[in-house]
Amino acid sequence: MIKLAIIGTGRWGMNHLKTSVLLLEPSDITVCDANPKTREKISAINENIKFTTEISDILNDPKINACIISTPAETHYEIAKNCLNAKKNCLVEKPITLYSYEAEELLAISQKFNLKLMVGHVLLYHPALQKIKEEVVNGKIGKLQYIYSNRLNLGAIRSEENILWSFAPHDISIIQFLVDNNPTKIFAKGLDILQNNIEDTTITYLEYPNNINAHIFVSWLHPFKEQRMVVIGEKGMYVFEDSLKTEKLKYYEKGFRINNGIIEKFENDYVPINYEEKSPLTEEQRHFFYCIEKNVSPLTDGKHALDVLRILEQATKSMKN
Ligand SMILES: NC(=O)c1ccc[n+]([C@@H]2O[C@H](COP(=O)([O-])OP(=O)(O)OC[C@H]3O[C@@H](n4cnc5c(N)ncnc54)[C@H](O)[C@@H]3O)[C@@H](O)[C@H]2O)c1
Repeated sequence: MIKLAIIGTGRWGMNHLKTSVLLLEPSDITVCDANPKTREKISAINENIKFTTEISDILNDPKINACIISTPAETHYEIAKNCLNAKKNCLVEKPITLYSYEAEELLAISQKFNLKLMVGHVLLYHPALQKIKEEVVNGKIGKLQYIYSNRLNLGAIRSEENILWSFAPHDISIIQFLVDNNPTKIFAKGLDILQNNIEDTTITYLEYPNNINAHIFVSWLHPFKEQRMVVIGEKGMYVFEDSLKTEKLKYYEKGFRINNGIIEKFENDYVPINYEEKSPLTEEQRHFFYCIEKNVSPLTDGKHALDVLRILEQATKSMKN
């Protein structure tokens, strides 16, 4: 039985709330937002949703067993730590914390109390990416060779974090999910064009064991929206473009094979891949509640969150040097 608190209902937290009212009884949901003006917006969604501006009301309510934390990133550590210490399972928005030592501490507390600690890397719950993963594991494209991701748009510009921390957690989490390993080398380059010392555009290179490579290009200074991920294997290639209206996922049986020492190209037309249309955020929340009820580890658990955070930290170090 899930009794949920959503902490922080700004732009993204409101999406969490609208999703959770589809999965739970509104009377089982409490919203905590520091801004008292939020109360009206919450009751417009459903008047049975409880509202408070005080986090202590959440921490001291023994019935609440799950918290979704969707406040600004710099507050995640403190809020999640308090929630875990109050024996509440936590789904924390990305990035889980600003420093890996903070995420390590959260992970340790969650393990000590056998609580679920999950991070909102929502794209791992996207049915298209689940489909790619399934086919990669089944060997459809053979050995993974190369992955790249473009996540580009014009705005929204943030001043509290750069584009790497704002956009790239998603791409890193997907690449980690597909490669199922940690990179051995990370290097990044960024440009701060609009605001001093806050990168608007970055390129991050990741080298994985078994000669698998990846790069991530993210920018909020780009003329149009593009969310394109390309996954290249020795027998075929996937292109996933979430920014398209139709045919978001395509399979290309294209590449090169070596025949008697000669490199030969093979090239077939692409095939659109169908998958069940499901909201990734709904799937993410459903998974969180399922993991609590069945006592199983989430796909995007604290360990996964920590791996992604360490990559962000190393990319930042490389970029700043
Ligand atoms: N998974 C995704 O795709 C995705 C997308 C967008 C944002 N996010 C993440 O979601 C989080 C929130 O982003 P946003 O754009 O909604 O921010 P926002 O600034 O729009 O909203 C933050 C809300 O938190 C409230 N708040 C701040 N401190 C609080 C506190 N101590 N206690 C209670 N409420 C508090 C604010 O009043 C505000 O309503 C960030 O971590 C962001 O990175 C994730």
